[in-house]
Amino acid sequence: MFGRVYYLRRLHFLNCSIILGIKRKRKMRMRNKYKKPTTFPCNAGSKCSVSIILWILAGFLLLLHFFSLVSHKDGTSGEIELHISHNPSFRELVEVEEENIQIPPPRGKRSPRAAKRRPKRTTTLIDEFLDENSQLRHVFFPDMKTAIDPMKDNGNDSFYYYPGRIWLDTEGAPIQAHGGGILYDERSRTYFWYGEYKDGPTYHAHKKAAARVDIIGVGCYSSKDMWTWKNEGIVLAAEETNETHDLYKLNVLERPKVIYNDRTGKYVMWMHIDDCNYTKAAVGVAISDYPTGPFDYLYSKRPHGFDSRDMTIFKDDDGVAYLVYSSEDNSELHIGPLTSDYLDVSNVVRRILVGQHREAPALFKHLGTYYMVTSGCTGWAPNEALVHAAESIMGPWEDMGNPCIGGNKVFRLTTFFAQSTYVIPLAGLPGLYIFMADRWNPADLRESRYIWLPLIVRGPADRPLEYNFGFPLWSRVSIYWHKKWRLPSRWSG
Ligand code: DGJ
Repeated sequence: MFGRVYYLRRLHFLNCSIILGIKRKRKMRMRNKYKKPTTFPCNAGSKCSVSIILWILAGFLLLLHFFSLVSHKDGTSGEIELHISHNPSFRELVEVEEENIQIPPPRGKRSPRAAKRRPKRTTTLIDEFLDENSQLRHVFFPDMKTAIDPMKDNGNDSFYYYPGRIWLDTEGAPIQAHGGGILYDERSRTYFWYGEYKDGPTYHAHKKAAARVDIIGVGCYSSKDMWTWKNEGIVLAAEETNETHDLYKLNVLERPKVIYNDRTGKYVMWMHIDDCNYTKAAVGVAISDYPTGPFDYLYSKRPHGFDSRDMTIFKDDDGVAYLVYSSEDNSELHIGPLTSDYLDVSNVVRRILVGQHREAPALFKHLGTYYMVTSGCTGWAPNEALVHAAESIMGPWEDMGNPCIGGNKVFRLTTFFAQSTYVIPLAGLPGLYIFMADRWNPADLRESRYIWLPLIVRGPADRPLEYNFGFPLWSRVSIYWHKKWRLPSRWSG
């Protein structure tokens, strides 16, 4: 791939130098108006201008450049195009689905918190989303009546994801696994979903503090089909009495992620550990012999000596795992490999997305290229997602713009009123992933919802990148909004 990138850049450089050469030549001709133009005899005996030949050459190179970009590195994108055009359920995934939500006329009464936020103004969809008394509440947070219950006879509705609806586990209780991630366990051929178990009351520790739920622990659910989830219980529990413990219930435990270490045979969990004011800014590590725990909590630290808030871990094909975390007061991300036992960071670290204020990183790899979805930093309120791409996981990472497609403009500017947490690769379906996000409900965090949507990597990216002479090199990452959708029937789980 490097060879190809180098070739494309070199080609463009050549084009540019030729065009610049032509421009310089033209200028000189203007200056030396009365001088004879440079000519040389052609085979046919006629005299051809050097500039005509250069123009033809430049045109040829530009055409070549264009064609190589159009067909760029999309080996399997051809494959996925094939799936999409031949498989009806694949075609459904890339259909652009619009949402037309009517904002109700302003009412006299708004909740005190919403009124304080925006005193006198016509309301927007975002205001409605943030207003816990909004008449549109049921649109963003549909109630139990519409819950997805995989255990009942769903007929034709089986295996359909309904982003935003309550999702019940096999015992009929709403799934509690927020800020979560998925581990596919090769040994048991089972998916495990780990996340924040937030089934407690939401409150503010003090006037200026963010809404919170006391730590209950990390919830774990297992599934063979990624639709029917069995509650495996709390695999890492809060500490009820010891106030000095990281997991003391009045602290913060967020975004737990688990990976398996093939060498040690251990399941290793990394998470964001904090105090209720988010000043500790650390990562925590726990370990287990089984995916279903119990996990033993080992320790917390500020990785590489830096503050660390939203984070994720990523295990690469070669078994090397990486920690990615928001740092320097969320102004940049840091990335670095873990030690080979995954229990600590090594001393290698890079700053990425410097000055961009991104959080909620969700990383995946497609055809040797690394992609990462991130959010902006607006507490529990939704904001615009961005995708970034890199040839090497350690960077440089380049911005590729907003991946969200469909819904409406506000949906796209708020990541469908949600925040990234993880991207699930799907074996046997190259280019298709599940984008996992949280639709936070700051008024009642246990009522936060899951937004799972198809993420597809194909076609050329649409945002010109910094050092690529204005031509996109990566494939486009698209997350399609759907009210309901399911994985292609070919996918067996
Ligand atoms: C945004 C983060 O992404 C969440 O995990 C959580 O830390 C909230 N901020 C708290 O306001």
